[in-house]
Amino acid sequence: MNPYSLTREDKIKTMNIINVELASNAYPVYLGHGLLNESSLWTRHLSQGKTLIVSNEVVAPLYLEALTSALSGREFEVHIIPDGEPFKTTETWYGIIDTLVGMQARRDANIIALGGGVVGDITGFAAACYMRGIRLLQAPTTLLAQVDSSVGGKTAINHQKGKNLVGAFHQPAAVIIDSATLSTLEDREFRAGLAEVVKYGAIRDPEFFSWMEKNTDAINQRDIATLDYLIHQSVSNKAEIVALDERESGIRALLNFGHSFGHALEAETAYSRFLHGEAVAIGMVVAARLSESRALCPVGTTERLSALLTGFGLPIVFPAQTSIEALSAALDLDKKAIASGLRLILLNAIGDAVVNSESTQQEITTAMEQSLARNQHSTQE
Ligand SMILES: NC(=O)c1ccc[n+]([C@@H]2O[C@H](COP(=O)([O-])OP(=O)(O)OC[C@H]3O[C@@H](n4cnc5c(N)ncnc54)[C@H](O)[C@@H]3O)[C@@H](O)[C@H]2O)c1
Ligand SMILES: [Zn+2]
Repeated sequence: MNPYSLTREDKIKTMNIINVELASNAYPVYLGHGLLNESSLWTRHLSQGKTLIVSNEVVAPLYLEALTSALSGREFEVHIIPDGEPFKTTETWYGIIDTLVGMQARRDANIIALGGGVVGDITGFAAACYMRGIRLLQAPTTLLAQVDSSVGGKTAINHQKGKNLVGAFHQPAAVIIDSATLSTLEDREFRAGLAEVVKYGAIRDPEFFSWMEKNTDAINQRDIATLDYLIHQSVSNKAEIVALDERESGIRALLNFGHSFGHALEAETAYSRFLHGEAVAIGMVVAARLSESRALCPVGTTERLSALLTGFGLPIVFPAQTSIEALSAALDLDKKAIASGLRLILLNAIGDAVVNSESTQQEITTAMEQSLARNQHSTQE
């Protein structure tokens, strides 16, 4: 059935709202099937000012019409950016600013990000900068953007020397998640998003982790009700963490579980071989292995995590030819590294993560070596 022909009553009936309870400004995350053209939501959260929709050349042909049909009677413009991470640059950002200037947008203007994490991050950063901050609404269309990047207010663009080096905290006024958009997402992108979902279970939600173990097939088949629950649990977890630590000075760091190793692998493979979620999947297994070797978590934790990730078709080992020396070098450069020892997120158990700086370089190296595809037989006895 076409989700955009559902009646308003049907959509509102099944819609969920999760509030991100920030000290200064709480905002809602709406989650439902076919929400993009639900004009009452947009009306509720758009100011009277002009509106700019930013999307990209892949997403716009699929979903721009649904969104704009909900904005009839409003003054809006559309800015389309090229697709992909290589375009998360100052040039693209400047293009958005230029359009805002051209349309004479004022402080009361709105900006809507319609797309995946790249569109969300760059549009969010433009919203943070234009006139020192205008109203931002996120309409995420990838699983990763729906469960992670659209919620929490981090915005950024890349510098030649590193990802997300230039950015700002700029919370959205609302996030409108239309789970129907996932029907067109490529399989690999969908699976990569699942890595971040597994992360929530692994770091703080053991029941959710078990639910994923039991519902792996329905998730892989993208069953609508199953996905709605999966997104709901993920956003709830993210919202709780963000509410506790808006600026990442404490508990929010747990969201980096698997990310130090994942970032090192991404950097080592020139950001071209692995999607972020795939690298994070491998990174989480290294972190679990390290936790297990330090006797922080029960034996079998790594295996359980690996089994779920494998069930979602995600990689769990470094490619055989990966250089551990190069990964170690990249780890030292990771912005989360501090002088007193590498600050890593480790597991006490599935569903219970901690920040830990006590691992020695040797322990870290060993855990990485055991995660090499070529060393798998010796570690899985
Ligand atoms: N701000 C944060 O807190 C945060 C958190 C995690 C990741 N990120 C950032 O998010 C970015 C990655 O986001 P992503 O994984 O969504 O990648 P992406 O935005 O590049 O989207 C992946 C691909 O899917 C396409 N696409 C998007 N929606 C689609 C749909 N509904 N149907 C078909 N195709 C669709 C995109 O055009 C793109 O080709 C990275 O730049 C990363 O740094 C930010
Ligand atoms: Zn991530």
